Amino acid sequence: MKKILVANWKMNLSGSQSVSLAEKIKKRISGFSKVKLILAPAFPFLNQTEKIISGSAVSLAGQNLAPWKEGDYTGEVSADNLKEVGCSYAIVGHAERRGYFNENNDLINKKIDQTLSAGLTPILCVGENYREKEKKQTGSVLGRQIREGLQKIKGFPEADLIIAYEPVWAIGGEKSLAPEEMQSIFMTIKKNLTNLYSEKFFDEKVKVLYGGSVDGDKASAFWENDFVDGLLVGGAGLNFDSLYKVAVANRL
Ligand code: PGA
Repeated sequence: MKKILVANWKMNLSGSQSVSLAEKIKKRISGFSKVKLILAPAFPFLNQTEKIISGSAVSLAGQNLAPWKEGDYTGEVSADNLKEVGCSYAIVGHAERRGYFNENNDLINKKIDQTLSAGLTPILCVGENYREKEKKQTGSVLGRQIREGLQKIKGFPEADLIIAYEPVWAIGGEKSLAPEEMQSIFMTIKKNLTNLYSEKFFDEKVKVLYGGSVDGDKASAFWENDFVDGLLVGGAGLNFDSLYKVAVANRL
């Protein structure tokens, strides 16, 4: 079965860098049989990137979206806008959105609703910070993020959902989760989604990714893990060689 690899370029690449990276990815990674690649360029470069990857197996994601359908919301980008430029996915509630822009679970819930109304698959990011981890609150933090972020969504349980578990303390650094810890994270996510919707929903529609300081060396242990359906990378997705190393590490 194909596992998912999301490359979140954040605000790190120019238009020309995005285009040249997408060209190399299309040429050398898009045909991989074991990896389904999803690229998340900055908004202004979605269109250019989509022109390059079009016709390949690579998909496009927005890094964020507005919690409203349309209207006078200067500076915002709607789910329909993302769909129109070729996105099939949208990242929602990334730790940097929660941290720098004070996004709470309520707002994230509205954004999830918008993604589904537009026919996009949400990639919901969840994860505890270092203080919460030290206090052994990971389970309760994830439970709250899932319950409050995903409750009463009209499109579920029919629509697909991707949950990216990204512990805040692991993002953009060197430390990442020990892969064997993914089993209990997976079970926590499963329990909460089963309570909210159903076990059938979880088994058939939900994929669980890991993200946080994954590179080519660490990737294989996550790819091989039965409780990981894929990876979300930041830093490792910014140049071709490091992204390629992550992708080829999946040998299953
Ligand atoms: P990182 O970023 O791979 O650089 O840790 C992951 C993320 O922010 O999603």
